[in-house]
Amino acid sequence: MPSTDNVMEKLVSLAKRRGFVFQSSEIYGGLGSVWDYGPLGVELKKNIKERWWRSMVHEREDIEGLDAAILMHPKVWEASGHVAGFTDPLVDCKHCKNRFRADDPRIKGTPGQPDAQCPACGSRGTLTAPRLFNLMFKTFLGPVEEAAAVVYLRPETAQGIYVNYLNVLQSSRQKIPFGIAQIGKAFRNEITPGNFIFRTREFEQMEMQFFVKPGTDQEWFEFWRNQRMQWLVGLGVRAEKLRWHQHTPDELAHYAKEAYDIQYEFPFGWQEFEGIHNRTDFDLSRHQEYSGKKLDYLDPATNERFVPYVVETSAGADRTALVVMLDAYSEEEVGGEKRVVLRFHPALAPLKAAVFPLVNKDGMPELARRLYDDLRRHYNVFYDDGGSIGRRYRRQDEAGTPFGITIDGQSTADGTVTVRDRDTLGQERVAADRLVSYLEGKLQG
Ligand code: GAP
Repeated sequence: MPSTDNVMEKLVSLAKRRGFVFQSSEIYGGLGSVWDYGPLGVELKKNIKERWWRSMVHEREDIEGLDAAILMHPKVWEASGHVAGFTDPLVDCKHCKNRFRADDPRIKGTPGQPDAQCPACGSRGTLTAPRLFNLMFKTFLGPVEEAAAVVYLRPETAQGIYVNYLNVLQSSRQKIPFGIAQIGKAFRNEITPGNFIFRTREFEQMEMQFFVKPGTDQEWFEFWRNQRMQWLVGLGVRAEKLRWHQHTPDELAHYAKEAYDIQYEFPFGWQEFEGIHNRTDFDLSRHQEYSGKKLDYLDPATNERFVPYVVETSAGADRTALVVMLDAYSEEEVGGEKRVVLRFHPALAPLKAAVFPLVNKDGMPELARRLYDDLRRHYNVFYDDGGSIGRRYRRQDEAGTPFGITIDGQSTADGTVTVRDRDTLGQERVAADRLVSYLEGKLQG
């Protein structure tokens, strides 16, 4: 394995070179902590989201899907506590105009006092006392930029679920316990973004809110903790790189009674990439209070009325993609040469196979093209006839493509092709007309 210090650097460089992730607006010098997904990255993230959706929505009869708008009524964010509580204390340097989190360990002395020293320009006594800074992005609805028209870009997708809870419950004829799942963009004006796509200002969440009877919340909380860990291990993420972190009382978000993070050992340390939260009846009760609409539930079995408790599973699609890429990244020596390979789980790999004619003559390109056209109807596959076969294999190793299919002299004679396995480097001869079913068997899981 490469040393952990430069793994991030290597991954960022590979991500750009191979078309996974590009800096946003790069030709203009880039936009701080905003990233674009290229041809391979968009497939990887889509595969992660589809797998999540399949396991959360399609495979469960007690969870419904939703796609709520990013813009919501501004009162939603008052009710949710984000207007008052979604803040970081910041200090400004009056000299160099830089802004820092008040708990920035580089600050010496007490901000607001003459002894405090700016970590950027070194001036003394120029740091303001901490002021609260809201992390929500603001914009205006309609043409007039006035206070009454202020709306926010949602900082979490969860609220779109809470305000639609009754609509979904009634239209889908579900009964409690049941859940609503959603994948969508969220925005936070983070003060200390960074580490590539780990903490960004625009990101995607995969969230599921499970509505339960109060008193059964602890049981469901444990159930969902288990399910989520199993799902991640099923993605091929190494179990020893995953651990639980329970929130201490001062870490708990304003809405949570209990929370656990699933952490991954990133090159920059153990960090959260998914959270399981017991949000109690906080959100539904607050929306009931602020909207004046009843959001309680009449249990048809017992005739009891209650405001459901919510167990939330909240994952970042981008952070999960970073985990998957880092976990898959590997360097090794093969035949005296260095090989960089992304060992993606086949279900997540952006490209499932690449087709190579060994040489561009003797009927090989024609057969390879026919095969490629056939496979393309089933999988995202790639055609490459440029350079030596060894270089073509290396390019696909870096893209994380599980199978390389080579059409050689024997193929035109007997209709078989060579299938090379990305991980074992083993090669097998397979009849070309059996390739679709051969790959299907290998790619499942
Ligand atoms: N609805 C609950 C909620 O939003 P959170 O712990 O603030 O909880 C959940 O966020 C997940 O969203 C995180 O575990 C992370 O994967 C992702 N996330 C949060 N802020 C992010 C950011 N600035 N950039 C990328 N992903 C982020």
